[in-house]
Amino acid sequence: MMTKIGVGICGIGTVGAGTFNLLQDNSAEIRRRTGQDIQIVRVGCRKDPEGCDVSGVPVSRDIFEVANDPAVDILVELIGGTETALELVKLAVSNGKHVITANKALMALHGAEIFELAAQYQVQVKFEAAIAGGIPIVKSLREGLAANKIHLVAGIINGTSNFILTEMAKAGNRNFAEVLEEAQALGYAEADPTFDVEGIDAAHKLTLLSSIAFGIPLHFDEVFTEGISSITPEDIEYARELGYQIKHLGITREMPGGVELRVHPTLVPATEMLAQVDGVMNAVLVQSDAAGVTVYYGAGAGAGPTASAVVADIIDVVRGSSGTTSLGFTADGLHEKTILSIEEVCCSHYLNLHVQDVPGVLASISTILGQNNISIEALIQKDARRGAAAIVILTNDVMEADLQNALMQISGLPHVENPIQHIRVESFDD
Ligand code: HSE
Repeated sequence: MMTKIGVGICGIGTVGAGTFNLLQDNSAEIRRRTGQDIQIVRVGCRKDPEGCDVSGVPVSRDIFEVANDPAVDILVELIGGTETALELVKLAVSNGKHVITANKALMALHGAEIFELAAQYQVQVKFEAAIAGGIPIVKSLREGLAANKIHLVAGIINGTSNFILTEMAKAGNRNFAEVLEEAQALGYAEADPTFDVEGIDAAHKLTLLSSIAFGIPLHFDEVFTEGISSITPEDIEYARELGYQIKHLGITREMPGGVELRVHPTLVPATEMLAQVDGVMNAVLVQSDAAGVTVYYGAGAGAGPTASAVVADIIDVVRGSSGTTSLGFTADGLHEKTILSIEEVCCSHYLNLHVQDVPGVLASISTILGQNNISIEALIQKDARRGAAAIVILTNDVMEADLQNALMQISGLPHVENPIQHIRVESFDD
């Protein structure tokens, strides 16, 4: 016999309306997949809903009524923010309701507390929509790759940053501020766009990905986070000449000494799939021991793609518990691991140094690099006019601590302008 499952949706913005419509539009298909009758029994929103027709469904102005409604089995949290959302989710869980959320900040910051409460009340908390919108990356890591030891997860997980970098690369002379304004006008950016361009949104998402990949507790505070605001069209051009695209990546990799957890602009070899992901699209690359390299591509935001992830989580809950925590490991299987500091990360680096074109300046730069065990893999000199030049260097793989030391010394040289541009390179070697 078909059971009725009550869904309550809190927040009817773009994603909420998309979720409402998708549950209605594809109800027959969803019933064929679950054998259950999933119905929206209450909506909570502060303003009149736009983008979906809620007539026939009770609407509460007080979203907490949704968490207290006995007809609600699954609460969908789409209000955003962290304070009220945390209160709402905790109330829903304490009332024995499963929770689905698209709220990456909430989960990255308060996931541990929420998961503990969910275990206590034996309900599920799912967040596929929080990372890379329509790409089922949580399910891929939790389920599709569950047999593997994961080595690396690296991805373009903020569409706004990718859109800005793509536009800057296309147009050549457009600067960062101009393209950001366009991204905001197109509605891609977060309410506070510094979350996008300074890498915080990507850091929220990477925190979750790292825990799901390696079975470690959430470590948002330890993510090394750098945004794209210092990237210039000149860097994009020079990187291209060296055979690279600049992408804003979230990278988490398990090394013998610990786990790398970092978000920053990155030179990606132009031949890599991630280098070819343009506009607002997202993509995630996973290196694992049995499956090898797998890459997942799709829309990282928007009503349809995000609603697709929310509704898939609802369907998962309806189908039954997987017997693991929200991170895809058993409670005993979650292990603390050291998070490596950025100084302990070893990779190649792109340097762009603006210098006065005087004899010996290049020699003094390369001497300092050599003294810090850094060797030069490629070097180009640009614009040696009017007494000034740009020296662009690709280093070998070096420990970041050595690189930082060298940069500090170089920045003290008399003919070198500050700040020195410095971008990490990712070659995706196993
Ligand atoms: N602001 C986010 C982005 C939305 O640009 O990717 C999806 O999380």
